[in-house]
Parts: sequence; structure tokens; C-alpha cells
Amino acid sequence: MAKPRKSPPSPPPTEATTEATTKGQAVQTVAEVESFGVKVGQVLEAIFYTNPRKESAFRFRATHIEGKSAPKAILCNDKRIQPGKLCQVRVTKISKPESQERGAIEVEFLSLVAFRLDDDIYVEPILSKKLHALLEIGMNVLLDGPQGSGKTVLSRKIAEALGMEYVFFNCSAIFESSDFLATLQVRATPSGQAETVWIPTDILRALEGAARDPEKRYLIFLDEFNRCREMARNGIMPALDSTRKMYNPITGSNIAIPENVLWIAAINNGTQFTGTTTIDPAQLDRFAPLCIRYLPAEQEVRLLAKRYPQVQHQHIERVVKAANLVRNNRDLAVDLSMRATDEICALLSHPNFADFKGDAIPELYKTSFCGRFLGRWDDEASDAGLVWKLLAKA
Ligand SMILES: Nc1ncnc2c1ncn2[C@@H]1O[C@H](COP(=O)(O)OP(=O)(O)OP(=O)(O)O)[C@@H](O)[C@H]1O
Ligand SMILES: [Mg+2]
Repeated sequence: MAKPRKSPPSPPPTEATTEATTKGQAVQTVAEVESFGVKVGQVLEAIFYTNPRKESAFRFRATHIEGKSAPKAILCNDKRIQPGKLCQVRVTKISKPESQERGAIEVEFLSLVAFRLDDDIYVEPILSKKLHALLEIGMNVLLDGPQGSGKTVLSRKIAEALGMEYVFFNCSAIFESSDFLATLQVRATPSGQAETVWIPTDILRALEGAARDPEKRYLIFLDEFNRCREMARNGIMPALDSTRKMYNPITGSNIAIPENVLWIAAINNGTQFTGTTTIDPAQLDRFAPLCIRYLPAEQEVRLLAKRYPQVQHQHIERVVKAANLVRNNRDLAVDLSMRATDEICALLSHPNFADFKGDAIPELYKTSFCGRFLGRWDDEASDAGLVWKLLAKA
């Protein structure tokens, strides 16, 4: 879970005063005004878009503060604001602070904030720059990486960082091209008769939501994109190119893909992923492909140490070093993901292993590392046996 970023402390109270919103209203000292935890003078981060209320004196509006729904619309009129980009602003006025439904938070622009992900995730800096730029341009992105390299986690973190609604969709359950938007289900009527009904998928709900509310931006994550039937995948092709339409089986007509919807897909690519199907060049061409790799050892150690503070640092370093020994071995077709190192650290932090007699780590390698390969740890002829041999030597 992303930790909300702390806002810098509010500056000391100033003599500045708010403008009275209606004639005769008492003039208040700025620092006194507070609305549901938001204070005048507070510095905060928000993403602004063009204000849909054309009659408003403010050109830009934000609805979220640091990823959470704001108590009121946040308004600004500064030309330096770039729609869709994170800005640092300072609250100058809160109108109707006591009301939950009415009023607004007026802010002054301070600076644009560079795109950043929280430090619970590591992304190569160049990859982060490319990803951010591609999404700002509005291109579809294909994350291609081995199991457990952080594709799913990354997609969620990006949505959070960009203040987008996140829709997770697992493509491995797709059999027909229409399944992207709706699935046919059989259910019993009150009289006990069987009836078939269309159930909209999260994608269809998101497309409808995006059309209803152009202010919100949606990131639809198509996980396991090459684990659905190849023919079925064709159903989503027109959604991903300039056609930007999809056939909706519920209405029997095409639904437009609103501009405020972006797509990210993820695949495992390689012959070792036997449950996958090939993405043909035309499908691939509809995405900007980005390769994801396992994180560098020092980053993996840092993240595991953060997740498992009870585990000795030297044990974490040892486990990551062992994992990299396996990853770098060319005779093994399958890689070890961070799920495996995470599993060992989780076990080491469990009370069952606190008073383990002797060295628990080799015992955990047998299951958490060797167990992810074909064969058994004590069968030298198998991949699991080869992993065990590598680790025993180290
Ligand atoms: N770069 C990374 N930063 C932070 N955590 C990571 C990173 N890479 C992997 N992980 C951790 O590894 C685990 C698996 O990550 P995730 O589910 O995102 O992998 P994936 O690439 O989607 O795998 P799969 O292809 O099997 O779906 C998670 O616990 C995640 O926190
Ligand atoms: Mg995944």
C-alpha cells in the first residue's frame, strides 16, 4: 500500500485574510479556516484538469489530494498548471469550510512535481521516465517480463502516482472476444427457471464510468495478456488503435473508448511459459513495449529489509545472493522471482523459525527455491537438484 506522502508543515499563521464570499460575511484569519483536515496555508499535491464548469472563474480543478478524494473541489487559475500533471500548491482559501457538499478549496500554484513512485517499488530510472512519458502521450504500454518481476505491482503504483482509477483485468479467463466486456451467466429466476444474463466486466463498467465522468482518468491493466485465446484477443484490437471502439455484446453495438482511458498490458514472454500464446506482430504493434527485469540485488535487499525488519540484514543479503546465483545460471531455463526471496524472509520472520536449531536457511531453500523447479532438491539429475547443488556450493 502506498504511504500517503506527508505534506510539509503549514507555514506560520499570516495576517492575510480570506475574501468574504458573500456580502457582510465576517472576514476570517486565513490560518483559522480548516475544512475536513485541509487547512489554509497547507501545501499539498494534486493533479488538475480543465474545470468542466465552464462558467467558473477557475480554469483548473482537482478532485483528489495525494491520491485520496478531496473534501471539496480544489480550484486554481494559474497558467503554469499542466492538466494531468502533479502540482504542488498552497491552500489560500476555503469557502464554506463547514459544509461537506458545497464550497471549494482555492489554491496557489507552487511548482510541478516530477513523476515519482513511492519507495515500496523499484523501477529502473530510465524505464520510469519512458513509462511516464508514454502514458502522458496517451500510448498503450506492454510490460514484458518474467514472473514476479513487478509488472502487476508497477501498474497499480503508476495509477496511484498519476491519480488514475485503476482497473485490474485478468485476461487468462477470456475465451471469446466478447468476454472483455461482458460474460454470459446462467441463473435461476424466482420461479426456478434457468435464464441467461449478460454480466458486465470491470472493463465495461470503467468505459461507462469514463464516458460519464471525463474528469476521472482510468488505467485498465490487462494482466496475463498472452494467456487468453489468440482469437479472443482480437476482440480488443480496435480498442487499442485509432478506431478506439469495442463491440458491446449487451447492446449489440460498438462502444467508444473515451480519451480518458489508458491501457497497460502485461505478458510473460518465452518458451518456458507454456500456458501462453504468441502475440502476433499486429497485436504487438498496438503497444509501446517495455521490458521489465528483476531488480538489482541491493534494491531487493532494501525492499525485503523494509518488509521484514525482524529478519537479520545479513540473512536477507545471503538469500538474495543465493537467488541471484540461481538467476544467473544459464543451465536453468526458469528464473527465481522475488516471490521466492520474499517467501523465505516471511518464513524467517515467523516465530516457528525464531528458535530453529541450526541454520534454517538451507532448509528453506529446499522448498522456496528448489520447489519452484522441476524435480526434487535431492535428485541431482533434475533442475531442482541443480539449484540445490549451486546453493550447497555457495
Ligand atoms: N521492482 C519491484 N519492486 C517492488 N516489488 C517487486 C518488484 N519486483 C517484484 N516485486 C515483488 O514481487 C512480487 C511479485 O510481483 P508482481 O506480482 O508484480 O510480479 P509480476 O511481474 O506481475 O509477475 P507475474 O508475471 O507472475 O504476474 C510482489 O511481492 C512484489 O512486491
Ligand atoms: Mg502479474
